Amino acid sequence: MKFFIDSADVESISQLLDMGVVDGVTTNPSLIAKSGRNIFEVVAEIAAMVSGPVSAEVVATEAEKIIKEGMKLAEISGNVVVKLPLTFDGLKACSYFAKQKIRTNVTLCFSATQALVAARAGASFVSPFVGRLDDISQDGIALIEDIATIFNNYSDIDTKLLVASARNPIHVLMAAKCGADFVTIQPKLLMALIKHPLTDKGLEIFLNDWAATGQKITS
Ligand code: E4P
Repeated sequence: MKFFIDSADVESISQLLDMGVVDGVTTNPSLIAKSGRNIFEVVAEIAAMVSGPVSAEVVATEAEKIIKEGMKLAEISGNVVVKLPLTFDGLKACSYFAKQKIRTNVTLCFSATQALVAARAGASFVSPFVGRLDDISQDGIALIEDIATIFNNYSDIDTKLLVASARNPIHVLMAAKCGADFVTIQPKLLMALIKHPLTDKGLEIFLNDWAATGQKITS
């Protein structure tokens, strides 16, 4: 499973890039609003920083307008993926973009049948939202299991399973156990994944023992 960063905050994305584990970025209208920036400017900046896919989401709801917006977003950079809502009109646009060889991320997926239909409409990525299902007492990870099973059942489905709305390390762990292709996470969750109290404690002991030797590895 590969990692995308779910953010439109250029500074926090750039801080994580040196770790070499970020394969792309996802944004949505709320994240763009939070950034306080113009969508074209911020997406262009992110797309220049990251070589992998950068999802930018349309806000139109009718297929024709979705297509117009998606075309404009796709023009920002070759690595921009057009993010579309999982609606009838969104899937019409998805099918259009698939024929144009423009990559899409079909978002706001909350059921396995939605994911299957999005895959058949030619979605490059489908984004099921685990956290928002958990929020309403439904099992987000069970949805990931179902979609992974369905996508594995059919060798002609190329759509990538992109786990979205992951809120904690257990969501990430379970998504990986299900064999999801990607998970998109906020910067602070990526940092939480690498944190362990025994790592911190162990490092402190090693450094104290080393200091007592008076040695140096470099001068
Ligand atoms: C990503 O594509 C989604 O927009 C995002 O993961 C939603 O996360 P949230 O439910 O925490 O807002």
